[in-house]
Amino acid sequence: MQTINIANGPEGASRLILGCMRMPALSKEDAAKMIETAVSLGINYVDHATCYGGGEAEVRFAQALALTDVKREDLIIQSKCGIRFENQTFDWSKSNIVESVDGILQRLNMEYLDVLLLHRPDLLYDPEEIAEAFDALEAAGKVRHFGVSNTLPMQMELLKKYVKQPLKINQLQLSLEQSQLIDQGLYMNNKTTDMSMMRDGSALDYCRLNDITIQAWSPLQHGMFQGMFVDNPDFPEINKALEELAEKYDVTKTAIAIAWILRHPAKMQVITGTMNPKHLQEMAEADKVWLTHEEWYKLYLASGKFLP
Ligand SMILES: NC(=O)c1ccc[n+]([C@@H]2O[C@H](COP(=O)([O-])OP(=O)(O)OC[C@H]3O[C@@H](n4cnc5c(N)ncnc54)[C@H](OP(=O)(O)O)[C@@H]3O)[C@@H](O)[C@H]2O)c1
Repeated sequence: MQTINIANGPEGASRLILGCMRMPALSKEDAAKMIETAVSLGINYVDHATCYGGGEAEVRFAQALALTDVKREDLIIQSKCGIRFENQTFDWSKSNIVESVDGILQRLNMEYLDVLLLHRPDLLYDPEEIAEAFDALEAAGKVRHFGVSNTLPMQMELLKKYVKQPLKINQLQLSLEQSQLIDQGLYMNNKTTDMSMMRDGSALDYCRLNDITIQAWSPLQHGMFQGMFVDNPDFPEINKALEELAEKYDVTKTAIAIAWILRHPAKMQVITGTMNPKHLQEMAEADKVWLTHEEWYKLYLASGKFLP
């Protein structure tokens, strides 16, 4: 697996990330197989969040890791905090950030996190409090690198005014079917389609300009977790285009859908969500595929977009 350069971030990060949102459904033995499979494929980057299974994902991961020969220091462990479904708030207060990291480390049974991301903007966020929280976590050696998720460029600018640690990552939704991150660059100023709407303040170009690595979440899903578009009869054109390229490159359609994201020159990471080792092996084949310019556009247009 090729690695990616996260500017001033953790070194040697794999292009694919093992996303653990769905790990609570596994036994610790099956979770251990997922970890071993990921590592055998060169996937060394792991994504968690406090809200995945209400903390169960981190617990299961720790139980599973203990069953493997994989060493903690050979992995880049990332978690996110700030979503509190239990009390229906998003919370980026200093106390919640600091307490969340203590909870994460306890559940993961680890001394430090490689990366902490703030999960979804808290409408009441105070950047000065966040700066204090990050300083405290860094000084205590509990977090090595920081970033955000689902965060607008101007929100990042406001954070940067107070937070001294560079924000190195923004985790954002992107799939062939959910490609708003990319669409607005094509249809700008076009009244005939709402795909021209600027929904995220140019997050893609902001991240590129500021050397912030984008991590694409739900790379195979349509809508918000509405299921896969791959092999879904509701998406015949995407599947036809995926099939043709899968045959050409001798990989699965899922690998082509991942290769479509990896082909973007922003050099994004892709967070996979499968909890099936065979599916992960198939997706990892994307690492050897480099789509041509024309193929990338062919897939994009097959997903229902058009050239203005
Ligand atoms: N920052 C955020 O707001 C945010 C939001 C959502 C997710 N995330 C992160 O992104 C990760 C990925 O999200 P996701 O789980 O929605 O991603 P995904 O990779 O698009 O979807 C994974 C789902 O597709 C299923 N699937 C069915 N057939 C498959 C096949 N042939 N190959 C691969 N998958 C197949 C998987 O089931 P099987 O297990 O049976 O393969 C799994 O249920 C999460 O784990 C989490 O770490 C972040």
